[in-house]
Amino acid sequence: MTENDFLTGDYQNLPEKGKVTWKAPSNIALVKYWGKRPVQIPTNPSISFTLDACATTTSVTFEKKDSKDDFSFDLFFEGKPKEGFKPKIRTFLERIEMYLPFLKEYHFTIETSNSFPHSSGIASSASGMAALSLCLMGIERQLNPTMEEKVFNAKASFLARLGSGSACRSIKGNLVQWGEHANIPESSDLYGIVYPFGVNPVFKSYCDTILLVHKGQKQVSSTVGHQLMHGHPYAENRFKQAFSNLEKLRPILESGDLEEFIKLVESEALTLHAMMMTSMPYFMLMKPDTLEIINKIWQYREETKTPVCFTLDAGANVHLLYPASEKEKVQDFIKDKLAIHCENGHYINDRVGQGATKINN
Ligand code: DP6
Repeated sequence: MTENDFLTGDYQNLPEKGKVTWKAPSNIALVKYWGKRPVQIPTNPSISFTLDACATTTSVTFEKKDSKDDFSFDLFFEGKPKEGFKPKIRTFLERIEMYLPFLKEYHFTIETSNSFPHSSGIASSASGMAALSLCLMGIERQLNPTMEEKVFNAKASFLARLGSGSACRSIKGNLVQWGEHANIPESSDLYGIVYPFGVNPVFKSYCDTILLVHKGQKQVSSTVGHQLMHGHPYAENRFKQAFSNLEKLRPILESGDLEEFIKLVESEALTLHAMMMTSMPYFMLMKPDTLEIINKIWQYREETKTPVCFTLDAGANVHLLYPASEKEKVQDFIKDKLAIHCENGHYINDRVGQGATKINN
């Protein structure tokens, strides 16, 4: 599908008012998206596990208004008005207006909340933009009820990407790939697709415990981080490596080769951080506790042969990844050895999930 496939004709019979609610999960990348071109086109393909527990629930109430001159919306986060989020939403609405021509017809009340604590330092842009895009698609579906499921999902992912790149991987489960790759059929820079190759059952119930090392604001936003890849001395090789890692993942995901999975996933995480350390300006997003945790994971894996590994996003928190069959053992390890490195001992147990769900109002 191309951008043109997401344009719509004029709508007939706009409903006067209504309400739609969607819950969309967060995701954690195995091969990282880091670097983009306008507008929200990734410089390399990525793949992520869709999560389950970490999610955003968003309701959009819409009511027809008289003037169609501008967007009109109120925004509530966890029940309270949130002016600070409005500019980002406005930019998003401007970007997607040509694909959803009804946006200026309505006044919207957007109510959003996260399943994870606000202060956890977990970015909610992926789940938040995915949930909002699904709500807007929910309205479009009322105007165009014959829309196929496949088109609905692709367009929801397409819109979410225009809000935040990684959000396009938060529509479906359980492994989603985004970014054109010559050897992945139907892969696209415009939206995420459910990973089209064989996936060993071990990965369908994989666990992800998010160790909250640092709950504060990130030192550098992803948006700024992506820009640092422009003119970066190692960018070209990094982009090539991501293409090749996606290729390498295929037999690993199919066979369930955890040893190779661990090597690839940890290398991706450290490469992401290496890119930030070697950009200009440069950033160090790991904290001493991040390194303590990584060393303890390596030591534990060596001693117990348990296939646990880590990945990182653009911050200090650590995602501990392990098969569901190892859960009991790994939970003891977390409590005994890792929790002391988490802010206030906090961590979140999550797992691979099935994607976003519609909530009936
Ligand atoms: C490190 O999707 O947050 O988590 O497109 O600017 O909103 P924007 O960036 P964002 O970048 C995510 C980067 C990452 C890696 C990943 O999720 O692939």
